[in-house]
Amino acid sequence: MRSALLATLMVAAATPALAQTASPTENLAAPVKTFGRVSYDARSLMIDGKRQVIWSSEFHPFRLPSPDLWRDILQKMKASGFNTVAIYFDWGYHSPKQGVYDFTGIRDVERVLTMAKEEGLYVITRAGPYVNAELSRGGFPGWLVNQRGKARTDDPAYMAAADEWLTRIDAIIARHQINSGGSVILHQIENELALTTPAQRRYMDHLYAKARADGITVPIFHNDQGRNGDWVPESSTVAQVVKGPNDLYAFDGYPGGTCTVAGKPTRGSAAPDWGFYGPGGAKGGASASPDTPAFLAEFGGGWFDYWGSNGGYACNAIQRGKRFQRVFYGTNLANGIDIHSVYMGYGGTSWGWLPAPVVFTSYDYGSAISEGRGLRDKALEMKQLGGLIASVPDLAGMIAAAPATVSSANVQAYHNRSLETDARFLMVTHKPSNGATDDAFTITADLPDGRYTFPQAQPMRLTGFDAKWLVAGVTLLGQRLVYSTSELQATLPLAGSSLMLLYGRAGEPGETALRYASAPSVHILEGQATSRFDAARGDLILDYTHQGRTVVRIEGGGRPPLTLILADEAEAVRYWRQGPALVRGPALVRHAALTRGTLALTGDTSDQTPIEIWAPAGKASWNGKPLATSPTAIGSRTATLPGPAPITLPALTVWRTADGTPEADPRFDDSRWQVAAGAPYASITARPDGQPNLLADAYGFHDGDILYRGRFSGSPDAKQIALYYGAGGSGMLQVWVDGAFVGQHELPSGLPRPITTGLARFDLPAAAQAPGEHVVTVMLRNNGHNWDLDVDDFHKEARGLISASIEAPGGRSFAVPIAWKIQGRTGGEALADPARGPANSGGQYGERMGWHLPGFDDRRWATTTLPATSAKPGTSWYRTSFTLAVPKGQDATIAVAFGDTTTPRSVAKYRALLFVNGWNMGQFIAHIGPQRVFPIPEGILNHRGPNSIALAVTSDGAPGDALEAVKLVTLRNMRGGIPVSPVAAPTRPDQLIQEK
Ligand code: GAL
Repeated sequence: MRSALLATLMVAAATPALAQTASPTENLAAPVKTFGRVSYDARSLMIDGKRQVIWSSEFHPFRLPSPDLWRDILQKMKASGFNTVAIYFDWGYHSPKQGVYDFTGIRDVERVLTMAKEEGLYVITRAGPYVNAELSRGGFPGWLVNQRGKARTDDPAYMAAADEWLTRIDAIIARHQINSGGSVILHQIENELALTTPAQRRYMDHLYAKARADGITVPIFHNDQGRNGDWVPESSTVAQVVKGPNDLYAFDGYPGGTCTVAGKPTRGSAAPDWGFYGPGGAKGGASASPDTPAFLAEFGGGWFDYWGSNGGYACNAIQRGKRFQRVFYGTNLANGIDIHSVYMGYGGTSWGWLPAPVVFTSYDYGSAISEGRGLRDKALEMKQLGGLIASVPDLAGMIAAAPATVSSANVQAYHNRSLETDARFLMVTHKPSNGATDDAFTITADLPDGRYTFPQAQPMRLTGFDAKWLVAGVTLLGQRLVYSTSELQATLPLAGSSLMLLYGRAGEPGETALRYASAPSVHILEGQATSRFDAARGDLILDYTHQGRTVVRIEGGGRPPLTLILADEAEAVRYWRQGPALVRGPALVRHAALTRGTLALTGDTSDQTPIEIWAPAGKASWNGKPLATSPTAIGSRTATLPGPAPITLPALTVWRTADGTPEADPRFDDSRWQVAAGAPYASITARPDGQPNLLADAYGFHDGDILYRGRFSGSPDAKQIALYYGAGGSGMLQVWVDGAFVGQHELPSGLPRPITTGLARFDLPAAAQAPGEHVVTVMLRNNGHNWDLDVDDFHKEARGLISASIEAPGGRSFAVPIAWKIQGRTGGEALADPARGPANSGGQYGERMGWHLPGFDDRRWATTTLPATSAKPGTSWYRTSFTLAVPKGQDATIAVAFGDTTTPRSVAKYRALLFVNGWNMGQFIAHIGPQRVFPIPEGILNHRGPNSIALAVTSDGAPGDALEAVKLVTLRNMRGGIPVSPVAAPTRPDQLIQEK
């Protein structure tokens, strides 16, 4: 039966899986370049001379404004199999004003670098000056938009500004390099500099020289926007590419399909061959830099989502989720891309005014670690993939081996080998890799231990969109793995013996061949497996089905004893390989360390959980408490861990409310506001002749809401007012004349590349035609500055009013001068609240008065309940306070949710700025969506004590456009976590630095 099936399979298609590349893209003769402890040749990076796959994912500390939790993310990344974290630094986050820089509190990036080292992660630093990253201005500081010189060029004023930042951030990074006792191994200059003129080359030369002058000693790279061959190192012998000063060439890519507008995943394209199995040629990306290792500085591990979408994050987490990771990251690794960073590992929150107009508050990204800090299924799959990389160092620096033959035309097997050990990596996937058929097949290959057609018993399977990362001919802990159709997740050395964890899809057959000098004895300790010894070759062949787990103990045969755990996928993801231990059971194992004969484990449980431990020590503790373990028959020890207690959240029943747009009143005192007229104009947006400069940035207001008050003389012809303005994606303005609400205008949403400027025209009330002075009030919501992706100074697009004209009937132009005054956030560039920083506050009246702060005394405000039954035009504030009592030793993510969370949009039209304990944790736009649930990190939220929420709700006042119900929800509740201190910041209005 078996041989009949095999015969059929063999006849089916004995085509070579992949044509071997005639010339590998690496230059195997390339010399080793050394930068202290870091070096590289064409094949891989080396640390202390040891080849290493750099398996990284991205984290933005500025998207998690609770520094203690940075460690939580880093531990989760490490536990998910990454050995490196890539970090962008946001210049604007640290600099509210030219010459002013802050690296304290939530901006203490030194801490994250220290933590990364402590958690055993290498770091790739990406310090800009430009980073993109869906940040307002792509990370440029607000004040830079007032600079006339073109950004990202060799303009002297721009470079001087950039140097201010670089001097400071480079000094911090320099201290944390691996060459100075830290763990930074690679450093990026610029990001996706797609314009490659001589001015850009001079700029790149400057950035490189600046980094070196500032003490950066590790290799420097740039991240090319796609595999274009832009800024390949000078040493490249390939013609027609753009060369740069950098040491390494790196690029990024986001292949694999997108979520549809309906929020559904689509089956994307096949995984591209972006390394040595791909097309070479002058513009062949990695191949254009044959002397340096292939390097993906960003590979899409999700995607960002935009105002008015249908909620793409859940979709993105699937689109670029489980299976995608195996197929796409596997194809990258198989292509020799040994420096590989997933963007994002943890997306986090674009809180306050961090987001660029292309995104809303949540930057969840569909990444492996969710915005609420939960491990998605895809993180558990990453743990398996990273586990293989950690277990088999031979994977670093492999080259293409002789093609393997696959017996099914639907399946291909990339076949690579180590030049050092001849170990093999077989990446098995469909052909093309986005195929989703169910196939049974065998692989024939010349392996280090001989020519094999395997599996020899039942054929292996590839079912649906999937890939298998197999190794063969590899020596691990004194054992020789000839081949296995199961994937290796972990190895563990134990006293005089060792352990291997292998897994496969539930119900699929698996076969593992191990080499021995003579027949060993095989004991099936758990589950079922058959074995036979092929004496001619010295192979012990084990056959089994991946179902639950099978445990096999092999002794004798000339090798130390070996325990094999053969698991199905659901079983295998429950194992964590940390320190000297392999641990099964908990939702997360953060750490394992042996101290004085006790294995100290830390981690999280989501329920009462059995724990099973393989470790050199007999004693163990869990989160500091001794564990009463009992030995098992298979050499492990077991115990039971408690789960978390449920969390009870208070209902937000009592609110206080006050009107927040007193500026609309003609009698409002604006004597201390700036006159908006003569400031220099640096915007790329053309301004009609004769108009004063009304742009908010020119007056130091770079983020958040802007208030304008204009005075004009009434006239019988004054029929309309036309306001041309810039406000970012889904930005808006509201207009009053003489205290009467005239209307509001919103920029359109629903586009991944939003429209960011618009023209609003309103009929003026009849009163404006009466003689005498009239006051027009404009509240403008600036939803961020554009990025500068295309090096066209797009970040300098106008924000605020561009022009304002009173018009006669029929839009006839009509010269009525308006004398304007402007007010944004208190102090403008001189922050009133430096602890929360430039992204936290805008110019709403309530923000200027400190109404968002927890200690504001609102006792004189009217009490009310939600949902609100009516709305007023303009901004109304709502405040409430509550106490949380999350049990000690529990880590939860609590969120604020608006209205009906089962739908992305409300019928009610309004928007709300959400302040939690004074922190601007985002913007909810009811009728645009899609985000309704706003996770608040602990540290911002006090999990054990009092809290306050303040909402600045902006409505057109139409019936029904009123604030819906607001409630607290628990997104995640675990026992475990790490200690989190509250983030220090002013709590009362009198603690703000007042305007001079
Ligand atoms: C990349 C860019 C990142 C980010 C990403 C999309 O091209 O380098 O900064 O914008 O796209 O999330």
